[in-house]
Amino acid sequence: MKALVTGGAGFIGSHLVDHLVEAGFDVVVVDDLSMGAISNIKHWEDVTIYVADVCNDEFMQQLLADERPDYIYFLAAIASVADSIERPAETHAVNHTAVFNLLEYIRQIQLPIKQFLFTSSAAVYGNLPELPKREDSRVAPVSPYAIDKYATERFVLAYGELYDLPTVCVRFFNVYGPRQNPSSPYSGVLSILTDCLKYQRPFTLFGDGSQTRDFVYIQDVIQALWLITEKRVQHEVINIANGSETSLNGIIKMYQEIAGQSLEIKQAEQRGGEVAHSVASIGKLARLDYSTEWPLRKGLTKYWEGERADA
Ligand code: NAD
Ligand code: UD1
Repeated sequence: MKALVTGGAGFIGSHLVDHLVEAGFDVVVVDDLSMGAISNIKHWEDVTIYVADVCNDEFMQQLLADERPDYIYFLAAIASVADSIERPAETHAVNHTAVFNLLEYIRQIQLPIKQFLFTSSAAVYGNLPELPKREDSRVAPVSPYAIDKYATERFVLAYGELYDLPTVCVRFFNVYGPRQNPSSPYSGVLSILTDCLKYQRPFTLFGDGSQTRDFVYIQDVIQALWLITEKRVQHEVINIANGSETSLNGIIKMYQEIAGQSLEIKQAEQRGGEVAHSVASIGKLARLDYSTEWPLRKGLTKYWEGERADA
C-alpha cells in the first residue's frame, strides 16, 4: 500500500508518516518546508520526500501519475487562523485551491484510490452558542482559514458522493505535542507556552484567557486517523478531539504546575477572527472504537518531559 501525505514534514503530518511507515506502508511526502522539517520524520530514510509546493498543479499531477498512491492524506496548509487573516490570498491558494485541483485531477484520471482524507478544523463551527460541537451542529466560519476549510470539506464530500470517490473529512480541534513548530507568532498556543517555559520568556495572552479550547494530544489524533483508515470510513465528517473544554487560563495554570515554574504573562487585545468557546462531541469517533488515552494533564506532562529532555 502506498500513501501520499501532503504536509508530511509538519507537526501532525510527520507523526502520521511515522505511523504509516511502521504499519508497512510505502510513504511519499510533499512539503515545501515552510513550517515543517525533514528531521521531524523519524523514518525519513524510508520515505520518498518531495520538497515542493502543493499549489504547483503540474508537479502534483505528475506526482499522482508516477506514484499512484492508494491513500491520500491532505495536511499541507497555512495552519493558523491569525496567519490567514494576514495572508488570505495565500491561504486560499493552499487551503482550498490546491486541494480542489488535486481532487479534480483524481476524478479526471479516475485514480483508483482507497481513501482521500482531508484535514478540516473545529474553526468551522465559529461562535454559535451550541456546545459541545457535533458534526451536524450549525457552522459559522469567521476567518479566511475557517471559510476555506469549510468550503473545501464540502467539495471533498460532494466529490465523494457525486463521483463515487472514497473521501472523508476530519475536523481537528486543538492538537498539541512534540514537533509543533513554535517559531512563528502564529504557532499553536501550547508550543509557544512550552517555549516560554523552557527559555523563561514572557507569554503574550490575547484576550482575558477565558476563551476555551478542546486540546487533544498528538498520539490520540494518530489513533483516530488510523481507525478512520483501517475502517475505510468514507463520505463522513468526523471530529477529532479530546472531548473536554479547558480555558486558556486553566491550561496556563496547569502547565505552570507541571513545569514547576511560573510564567511572566503580558496582556494583549483579543485577536480578530477568534472563536470564544470550543469543545467537541466525540460520539462519532467513539463509535469507531476511539477512546482518549491522553487526558490533558497526562499529555501535557509527557510533552513537557520530552521538551525538557531536548533542552
Ligand atoms: P504544520 O504547519 O505543522 O503542518 C503543515 C505542513 O504543510 C508544514 O510542514 C508546512 O511546511 C506544509 N506546507 C504549508 N504550505 C505548503 C505548501 N504550499 N506546499 C507544501 N507544503 C506546505 O500544521 P499542523 O498543525 O501539522 O496541521 C496539519 C493540518 O491539520 C493542517 O491542514 C491544519 O490546518 C490542520 N489542523 C491543525 C490543527 C492543530 O491544532 N494543529 C487543528 C485543526 C486543523
Ligand atoms: C488552532 C490551530 C488551527 C486549528 C484550530 C482548531 C494552530 C496554529 N492553530 O487554532 O490550525 O484549525 O486550532 O480549533 O495550530 N493565544 C495566546 N497567545 C499566543 C498564541 C495564542 O493568547 O501566543 C491564544 C489565541 O488568541 C487563542 C488560543 O490561544 O485564543 C489558541 O490559539 P491557537 O493555538 O493559535 O489556536 P486556534 O486559533 O484555536
